[in-house]
Amino acid sequence: MGSSMARACANIALVKYWGKRDRNLNLPAGGSVSITLSSLQTTTRVTFDDGLRRDEMVLDGEPAAEGVRSRTGRFLDLVRTAAGTHRFALVESHNSFPTASGLASSASGFAALALAACRAAGMDPGWDGLAQLARRGSGSAPRSLLGGFVELMPGESPDGSDCLVRQVADPDYWDLRLLVVINGQSEKEVGSTEGMELTRLTSPFYGEWLRSGSADVDAALNAIVRRDFRSLGQVAETSCFRMHAVALSASPPLLYWNAVTVDAIHKVRALRKKGLEGYVTIDAGPHVKVLCRASDSEDLAREIREVPGVERVVIERPGPGAEVIE
Ligand code: PMV
Repeated sequence: MGSSMARACANIALVKYWGKRDRNLNLPAGGSVSITLSSLQTTTRVTFDDGLRRDEMVLDGEPAAEGVRSRTGRFLDLVRTAAGTHRFALVESHNSFPTASGLASSASGFAALALAACRAAGMDPGWDGLAQLARRGSGSAPRSLLGGFVELMPGESPDGSDCLVRQVADPDYWDLRLLVVINGQSEKEVGSTEGMELTRLTSPFYGEWLRSGSADVDAALNAIVRRDFRSLGQVAETSCFRMHAVALSASPPLLYWNAVTVDAIHKVRALRKKGLEGYVTIDAGPHVKVLCRASDSEDLAREIREVPGVERVVIERPGPGAEVIE
C-alpha cells in the first residue's frame, strides 16, 4: 500500500455518447469516437493511509465539495474491493482548466484517479481492466486512458466486460486541432448522467438517436483511416447536433447552449463559407469546440475570439494517453 500519482488529458467526443444501457454499471448504450487533448489535463495523487477515518479529497488546493468527495469515495470502494483492503485514501487532484465547466474534467479526472488508485493499491489490472474501472466513475473516462484518436465500444454483455476502448490512431497520426472556445457560464445546470436518463425516459426520439449512432461511428472511423478531414468534420457536426436535438426533445427539455454558443456556431459556419474550414462539436455545456486543420487553427482562433462573450480560445492538439508519473 502506498502512494502514486498519474496524469490524464481531457478528451472530446466527435461521435457522442448520450444514454446508458445500464446505469449501475455505467455502461453506454452506444459507441463513441474521441480525440484526447494535449494540455487540458488532470494530475492526481492517491495515498492510502492507515491513519485516515474516511477518504479525503483536495481539489486544486482546496478541500473538495462534499458531493465530489463522496463520489470519489464510492469510486475508491471499487478499488478497495478489488485490492482487498479497507484503508481510506487522500486524493489530491489538480486540473489545468476550470472543473465542471463542460470541459470534460470528469473524463480526465476519473482516468487519472483510476490509474493512480490502482498503482497506489499495488494493482495492475491492464488497460482493459482500467477502462472497466474508469468507466464506473464517468462514461467518457475510458477514452482518456488512451492517446490520439480513440473508440469506445459499448459491448453487449450484461456485465460490461466487452465495453472496451481502443486507440484508432496515435497522437502524431494526423495534424488536426481542436479549438476550445470558452464562454461565460461555468457550472453545468443538469449533469450528463441526469440529462441522459431524462432523455432516455422522456424523448420520443431516443431510439432513433441510438440507431443512427452506429453509422456515425463507422463514418468517423472511416474518415480517420482515410485522413478525410471534411468527412470527419461533417460526421462530428451531425453527431453533435443530433445529440443536442434528442436532449432538447426530452421533457423538460435540456438546453445546454447559451447565446454565445449559438453565435459561435454561426461564426464557424460563416467562416467555412469563406474557405476557413472548421466543424463544431458541443458537450453538456455551453462551450463550443471546433475541429480544424493545424494550418487553419491560428486564423480560426483569431476570428472566433471576436465573437462577443467568448472569453478564451485554447488551441489543442491530439494528446497522449494517461500515465503514471510517480
Ligand atoms: O462521461 P459522462 O458520463 O459525463 O458523459 C459525457 C457525455 C458527453 O460529453 C456529452 C458526450 C461524450 O461522448 O463525451
